[in-house]
Amino acid sequence: MILVTGGAGFIGSNFVLDWLAQHDEPVVNLDKLTYAGNLNNLRSLQDDARHVFVHGDIGDTDLVASLLAAHRPRAILHFAAESHVDRSIHGPAAFVETNINGTFTLLQAALKYWSGLEEAEKTAFRFLHVSTDEVYGSLGKDDPPFSETTAYAPNSPYSASKAASDHLVRSYHHTYGLPTLTTNCSNNYGPYHFPEKLIPLMIANALVGKSLPVYGDGQQVRDWLYVGDHCAAIRRVLEAGKPGETYNVGGWNEKANLDVVHVLCDILDALSPASNGNSYRTQITHVTDRPGHDRRYAIDARKIERELGWKPAETFETGIRKTVQWYLDNQAWVRDVQSGDYMHWLERNYNQRDSLPGAGEAQKTA
Ligand code: NAD
Ligand code: DAU
Repeated sequence: MILVTGGAGFIGSNFVLDWLAQHDEPVVNLDKLTYAGNLNNLRSLQDDARHVFVHGDIGDTDLVASLLAAHRPRAILHFAAESHVDRSIHGPAAFVETNINGTFTLLQAALKYWSGLEEAEKTAFRFLHVSTDEVYGSLGKDDPPFSETTAYAPNSPYSASKAASDHLVRSYHHTYGLPTLTTNCSNNYGPYHFPEKLIPLMIANALVGKSLPVYGDGQQVRDWLYVGDHCAAIRRVLEAGKPGETYNVGGWNEKANLDVVHVLCDILDALSPASNGNSYRTQITHVTDRPGHDRRYAIDARKIERELGWKPAETFETGIRKTVQWYLDNQAWVRDVQSGDYMHWLERNYNQRDSLPGAGEAQKTA
């Protein structure tokens, strides 16, 4: 069996669902169920004996050691993290605690467990660390995309904490020989994406007539990857990646934020027109920028394609259409996660932002 951490979050739950749709190999899923963890994502597995959910913290040494001893996984897939850049600006401590200290605890427990395995099991064991392209910092307009040898230059408390965790993972391979793999992926989107992140927030706000808050001029560029493609990349790296290596994962889909929001508005206009007859584009509002906002991310994903044969199956056009449709079909899921803590977060992040004069064709709303 495999041990997944953070398997009730956005990417983790997509991974667990995809894994069990394709394998009979059981999954132990260790998740703290922070505001971002949601067992509703895994509801279809509630009577499935192949999925063992454990409510707990990766920073709990005794719990992690006992899970490893009891279940004897052949691999650990480490998704658990605090993942939202804006939250890391308001409260970095949780990011240090989970992303750095938590990863350290998990590595210590994995090393102890791995050291006690038989030789064949030891050789086959993998610790796969799921990381981000944000560790590489920000690119200029004409810079080449991030490759696996780009120097780390994290700019937010979130990306700094992920960079620290990547370095710890690297050191456990280099120093102790733990068979680690690291993936650095670009922005994911798809089902079960928590509506604090750009794409689901814009869809959710549009449908209830709220403003669509674009930070600054909206010309910041991200590379977008459909979450199912990310899950396939992780499965492939687990299967064939070389211990000690890192693999960049990306969608070859660089888009400016404002363009993404326009695409979302246009799809919603077609699939679920607003009752007042206006385009959802009229809800776009430019607001004060994110402090330290990285201008551009882009991923050179040639290594994983060349060495492991993975490349994305979805284009942005196919993936984003499926995603909008999923949110239209699952508005109850969105309402469920918009609980007290979520409303408090919106207040904290958006109420102090000023509205800025619109850029391009975007219009300001009250
Ligand atoms: P998410 O915030 O949606 O989910 C994180 C999950 O981890 C939640 O279920 C949460 O309950 C759990 N968790 C948090 N702290 C924990 C702890 N101390 N112990 C156990 N569980 C804990 O995050 P996501 O977007 O699914 O990201 C998953 C991983 O992928 C993260 O490591 C993130 O850095 C990385 N990543 C995300 C993206 C993206 O676009 N979302 C892109 C590249 C890499
Ligand atoms: O690049 C990978 C990273 O992508 C992951 O490591 C992170 O976990 C994930 O959250 C994501 O980080 P971003 O900061 O790029 O994602 P977010 O959805 O928060 O923002 C995407 C872009 O949209 C970013 O330039 C900020 C902007 N934005 C975001 C929000 C929430 C807005 O303009 N308005 C908003 O309200």
